[in-house]
Amino acid sequence: MKILCIGDIVGTPGCEMVYTQLKYIVNDYGIDFVIANGENAATGNGITAEKAEKLVDSGIDVITLGNHAFAKAEAGELMSNGFPMIRPINFPTKTLGSGFILKECQGKKIAVINALGRVYMNPIDSPFEAVSKCVDDIKDKADIIVVDFHAEATSEKAAMAWYLDGRVSVVFGTHTHVQTADERLLPNGTAFITDIGMTGPYNSILGVDKDIAVTRFLTLMNKRYELAKGNSVLNGIILDVEGVNVKSIKRLSLC
Ligand SMILES: [Fe+2]
Ligand SMILES: [Fe+2]
Repeated sequence: MKILCIGDIVGTPGCEMVYTQLKYIVNDYGIDFVIANGENAATGNGITAEKAEKLVDSGIDVITLGNHAFAKAEAGELMSNGFPMIRPINFPTKTLGSGFILKECQGKKIAVINALGRVYMNPIDSPFEAVSKCVDDIKDKADIIVVDFHAEATSEKAAMAWYLDGRVSVVFGTHTHVQTADERLLPNGTAFITDIGMTGPYNSILGVDKDIAVTRFLTLMNKRYELAKGNSVLNGIILDVEGVNVKSIKRLSLC
């Protein structure tokens, strides 16, 4: 079984890339199951119901989120209605939605867990404790466990992967919008990559109009961010899973 994980989809350019290209990628690479981080699908922050539904209609099986999960309030309603979208599991217990989901593919149960980091990010409960408890709760029900760890610090992401090595199928990072080249299998079988990158405007700074971002650095004035225009890049990983074991993790970067 091949699982495609797509990095943070940014704005309409990133969504359009998925709407128009995902079917060809699925066909070309023989993909069976698709997970995508959609926390920036609405104009950079959050996700609208319309875009979430269109992304799922385009072939995404599970949408994960992150620190911008509730930037658009309708995301909470959508998750409460059973839509295949999850928010970080270490949010407060009264937060709408769930931090994990179980789906079936080719007779295998795939669990997807989303968690949010704490280093250089807003205060939140320990992602390590929340994910570990979730893994303990669902391990008898799931054949494959996928963790999208939405975090800033490379060290925190590596720590999560080593902490979970042998207990989950993969830990991949999102949030920085920059794909790292450190994909590997850890000694006890868990696949890991620090960040899978973003899906959005190629000539940009993390998806944002480069001139605006440069001006902010030059002047320290809060010029309003706008998304960049032009062609998009799609970044992600493909996991090759045999039975319940990950055989390989490969980076994907398509313009
Ligand atoms: Fe993001
Ligand atoms: Fe983020």
